Amino acid sequence: MERKKIILDCDPGHDDAVAIMLAAGSEELELLGVTVVAGNQTLENTVRNACNVLSWIGREDIPVYAGCPRPLVREKMVAADIHGSTGLDGPVFPPQTKFPEAEHAVDFLIRTLLAQEGDVTVITTGPMTNLALALRREPRIAEKIERILLMGGSLANGNVSPAAEFNILADPEAAHICFSAGRPVTMMGLDVTRKVLCTPEIVSRMAKLDTPAAQLFVQLMGHFCRTQKEVFGWEGGPLHDPVTVASLLDPGMVTLKGMNVQIDLSHGPSYGRTNCDAFDYLGLPHTAEVAVDIDAARFWDVIERGLRRF
Ligand code: RIB
Ligand code: CA
Repeated sequence: MERKKIILDCDPGHDDAVAIMLAAGSEELELLGVTVVAGNQTLENTVRNACNVLSWIGREDIPVYAGCPRPLVREKMVAADIHGSTGLDGPVFPPQTKFPEAEHAVDFLIRTLLAQEGDVTVITTGPMTNLALALRREPRIAEKIERILLMGGSLANGNVSPAAEFNILADPEAAHICFSAGRPVTMMGLDVTRKVLCTPEIVSRMAKLDTPAAQLFVQLMGHFCRTQKEVFGWEGGPLHDPVTVASLLDPGMVTLKGMNVQIDLSHGPSYGRTNCDAFDYLGLPHTAEVAVDIDAARFWDVIERGLRRF
């Protein structure tokens, strides 16, 4: 079976951590590397978290690359209210044994994409700063990207402002560069990620697997679900980021709709909004496939299969 080549760019983050485990454990995927960006927490924290997650599941062979410590234009923002002061509050990791490569994430993205045959899916589950900078530094990589698959944005409301979702608002200019790179874009927004709530029943289901990955999942969700309840009142934390990887493993689980998506770069109350023209009001070219629905049962089946792997 030919494995699908992916690069995962992330800001772990509890849900990013589950996306890392899913990507690293899937036989259908060839994870070329994990690039890390500041987002949920500072770059120092998110890089350490990515390394620790890969160590936990015994995949220290997968390289980690540190990327941009702040957005392209706006001031940095973090999500400590959700992910805590470490970015991965909750689990207690052993002393760190895996560390990032010396190469910068942007250089890794450029070097790796230029060396491939144009069959790499770049998955972003944090602010899109690293990919945007790579596209600006070396525009030739655009033709080498099969698809940009992101967790971010929403057709409807945001989650850090009425208009904007965190990954986009944390670096709107970067998102604009990526959405306008001329490559296929698939957007997993809040509209679908808020339909995969990690309820206590889901946590109990995964706890029964009794694998190291499942144990980490349970510890991660202990913190993540509590803060999501405190901040948003959810009965379970929406497991945002793994929807990207899961949709590669079972494409039929999401319903996609092509539409024009523009990132609002005005510095008003809608800054960072993904303006999704779902009904083609403006008659503009479609710039993304946007997930408008998800089969939650199929999603949790993919998560369970992934957690069994390690
Ligand atoms: O809005 C949710 C997104 O922001 C997720 O990627 C979460 O990890 C945070 O980065
Ligand atoms: Ca994230």
